Amino acid sequence: MIILGIETSCDETAAAVVRDGREILSNVVVSQIDIFAEYGGVIPEVAARSHLEAMMPVVSKALSDASCTWDEIDAIAVTHAPGLLGSLLIGTLTARTLAILHSKPLYAVHHLKSHVYANWLSDDVPSFPLLALVISGGHTQILWIQKHNQFEIIGTTRDDAVGECFDKVAKILGLPYPGGPSIAKAALKGDSSKYKLPHPKIDGLDFSFSGLKTAVLRTVQKEVGVPISYPSHKLKELLSGQQVCDFAASFQKTAVEILCEKLEKALEMYPETQSVVVAGGVSANSELRKALPEAYFPAASLSGDNGAMVAAAAYFEIISGAEPADPYALNIYPRISIEK
Ligand code: KG4
Ligand code: ZN
Repeated sequence: MIILGIETSCDETAAAVVRDGREILSNVVVSQIDIFAEYGGVIPEVAARSHLEAMMPVVSKALSDASCTWDEIDAIAVTHAPGLLGSLLIGTLTARTLAILHSKPLYAVHHLKSHVYANWLSDDVPSFPLLALVISGGHTQILWIQKHNQFEIIGTTRDDAVGECFDKVAKILGLPYPGGPSIAKAALKGDSSKYKLPHPKIDGLDFSFSGLKTAVLRTVQKEVGVPISYPSHKLKELLSGQQVCDFAASFQKTAVEILCEKLEKALEMYPETQSVVVAGGVSANSELRKALPEAYFPAASLSGDNGAMVAAAAYFEIISGAEPADPYALNIYPRISIEK
């Protein structure tokens, strides 16, 4: 079964063609990072407009890179939730229109499910039951997955997502958007034991990352000798290059430790676990990859948002009995749980 997957939930316009949920025939991603680096973050209206411009060229390129005609496409899959409203609308309306025009069944995919299924786009796939750590700009969750298409949230963040925390700490340090890759890069030249940062004291499997962000802010203020009322966007002017790298390394080490501690706790609570899967934009982080040598990670190029994972998720939903969506009515849901 050959599926065209479409993804526009945030700031990547993406389309891909995938055979049987495992084999990538093409994977086209147009990122808006250059636009938003200037602003230091995503502006939803601008993102939606950029998706509109890039969408059809990206779909056409995905088909031509795969040497596929419309006749060979068996189904269309699209991310319809969660994400930015205007961004989700562009991908979903495009997929609905293409499904009607070319008489193809249409499948609606949850964004976090698709991140998990990026781990099936490989030769070595995870076994059930599994624990998934889903870490992105908008989510931080531990999922218990007993079989395909059956997701249970067993841990979630009570405030900021871990990716959001990377992005906010990067801003404090004056590192460019998106924060994750810039922190990882700066950390290479830093001393990760230089600044001691706290781990949140939360029982069970839930996370909290806003305290860590504030701890970085307070430690920076103390280090450069300014009061807490000092404008945070000006702190970067007072930090030396080495201090920035030491803060990046210390923060990254703490964030990775927090994620690993909760995952270890989950493994104790679910001893029947066969595989541990890490997914979402933050799974690109190489320190995290080093800290979890036994876990499954997507190929680095599939950690961030892409269409291939959408097509993969749809394939495994279809073989688990999922019904196609109505192309005349499929809705978008900016905030909806993976359990719904
Ligand atoms: O999954 P994703 O591409 O988009 C969402 O669904 O949110 O995740 C984006 C997030 C951003 O917060 C970005 O800073 C983070 O993933 N990220 C990283 C790395 N690469 C991207 N965080 C840490 N280390 C990285 N290497
Ligand atoms: Zn994502």
